[in-house]
Amino acid sequence: MCHSWGSIAAAAISFALSCANAQDVPNLGDVLANQTDLSTFYGLIQKYPQVLLQLPSYQGVTVLAPSNDAFSKIPYSSLNGAFQNNDDDVIIDVLEYHILQGTRLAAQLVPGTPEFLPTLLKDPFYTNVTGGQVVENVKQAGDVVVFVSGQGSRSTLTTADLKFDGGVVQIIDTLLIPPTNLTDTTNAFNLTAFEGALYAAGIIDIALYTPNVTIFVSWNEGFQALGPAITGMTSQELAQVLKYTILPQVVYSPGLTNDTKFLALNGENITIMHNGNNLYVNSAQLLTPDILIANGVIHVIDNVLNPQGPNAQPNPRIGTQAPVFASASMVTNLPFTNSLPCTVSCPVTTTSSATSSTGSSSATGDSTTTSASVFSSSSRAQAAVARETGFGAAGLVAALGGALLLV
Ligand SMILES: *[C@@H]1O[C@H](CO)[C@@H](O)[C@H](O)[C@H]1NC(C)=O
Ligand SMILES: *[C@@H]1O[C@H](CO)[C@@H](O)[C@H](O)[C@H]1NC(C)=O
Ligand SMILES: *[C@@H]1O[C@H](CO)[C@@H](O)[C@H](O)[C@H]1NC(C)=O
Ligand SMILES: *[C@@H]1O[C@H](CO)[C@@H](O)[C@H](O)[C@H]1NC(C)=O
Ligand SMILES: *[C@@H]1O[C@H](CO)[C@@H](O)[C@H](O)[C@H]1NC(C)=O
Ligand SMILES: *[C@@H]1O[C@H](CO)[C@@H](O)[C@H](O)[C@H]1NC(C)=O
Ligand SMILES: *[C@@H]1O[C@H](CO)[C@@H](O)[C@H](O)[C@H]1NC(C)=O
Repeated sequence: MCHSWGSIAAAAISFALSCANAQDVPNLGDVLANQTDLSTFYGLIQKYPQVLLQLPSYQGVTVLAPSNDAFSKIPYSSLNGAFQNNDDDVIIDVLEYHILQGTRLAAQLVPGTPEFLPTLLKDPFYTNVTGGQVVENVKQAGDVVVFVSGQGSRSTLTTADLKFDGGVVQIIDTLLIPPTNLTDTTNAFNLTAFEGALYAAGIIDIALYTPNVTIFVSWNEGFQALGPAITGMTSQELAQVLKYTILPQVVYSPGLTNDTKFLALNGENITIMHNGNNLYVNSAQLLTPDILIANGVIHVIDNVLNPQGPNAQPNPRIGTQAPVFASASMVTNLPFTNSLPCTVSCPVTTTSSATSSTGSSSATGDSTTTSASVFSSSSRAQAAVARETGFGAAGLVAALGGALLLV
């Protein structure tokens, strides 16, 4: 019997070390080796045995194994050659994110409500939440099982429930992306007015580095609908408004139950209301739930919440809800974008000279720093910089791609 993770890992790595097992349940190595579709993943697990050897004693694990097709989706580009240096740190983090704590059989999944499953990923760079970063798992109509990871990336289950002596393997068609920080994510989702407002209010560090947060982020249109009613605020006033959108606890969408109040960072409650299939936060409608970030979760809503109007009620008969600030006045310019540090999605201002380089959204003026040269280093810091300049998903995927060349 394989009792220790060490022996399971050893069995995965080498066929010679096989665990005798009364039920004849194969070991992980046998299962992976037997699936021609998993040869790339198996190669990575053999190359980075520490992912398995470091396992604490969980009651089994679920290995979300990306198929060879998943690896072939890696976008090769100027990033490719850069990863021949092989960023072990990033690859190990990515592999850890593909292993769920506990055995999870697809056959037991109930359709509908998503579940948020802790993984082995503990690196605080991606995981400033307690208990390990999560993956969202939902069974959709037609029995399609999907795993949603950072930046809204979706992976579909293709082969379910391959049992091994330490748990179960689920084959997925796309790599999971470890959740990145708030600003990486707001950039990816075009939530630029909110991000700019955090800088303008001087509370960007609170939003980025407080562990365990839930942030209700208004889409850009919510800020545009307010215009001077929000851009005219002092930074202190603005900070109070933004703190009202941050909860000091992680609440994924299933926790946003009807008629529930949550205390926000500014000391006021927000109220959740359900109406039909719609969910409201005060009077703002939930547009996109459950975008995972390193320190918690973002829910996108259609209005900026007003701490001075905590009793605002939605009108479920209309689509986009009315602004809840006095003297709101719609503007077409995107508020607060000139408060953003110019690293990504920089507003195209008429004053700046033409420094933007092709193929990069960076307008820092460092136009000679191409994506390829940013990725040519194996250091975490420089990989991080590359992700900040707009290659989030591609960067991680390319990390694996580069590694594969050396397997
Ligand atoms: C390998 O695959 C074959 C058929 O696909 C199956 O019969 C066998 O049980 C598998 N062995 C393991 C160890 O999974
Ligand atoms: C994060 O939240 C959990 C409960 O959801 C709590 O147990 C834990 O102490 C929190 N961690 C931090 C660092 O605040
Ligand atoms: C994680 O949270 C701690 C506070 O518990 C904070 O000091 C640290 O900067 C955060 N790390 C990251 C990478 O966000
Ligand atoms: C981002 O939001 C702005 C304002 O809503 C919009 O004009 C722009 O087209 C959006 N960009 C993308 C890439 O969606
Ligand atoms: C927030 O709501 C809770 C629970 O409903 C209540 O006990 C608390 O007094 C409220 N706090 C504020 C500041 O309104
Ligand atoms: C939500 O709660 C409110 C207040 O208790 C109630 O009037 C409403 O019917 C509830 N909505 C749903 C969808 O259950
Ligand atoms: C967010 O994370 C990226 C790496 O993904 C890092 O380069 C960037 O500095 C972080 N942003 C902030 C404001 O800390």
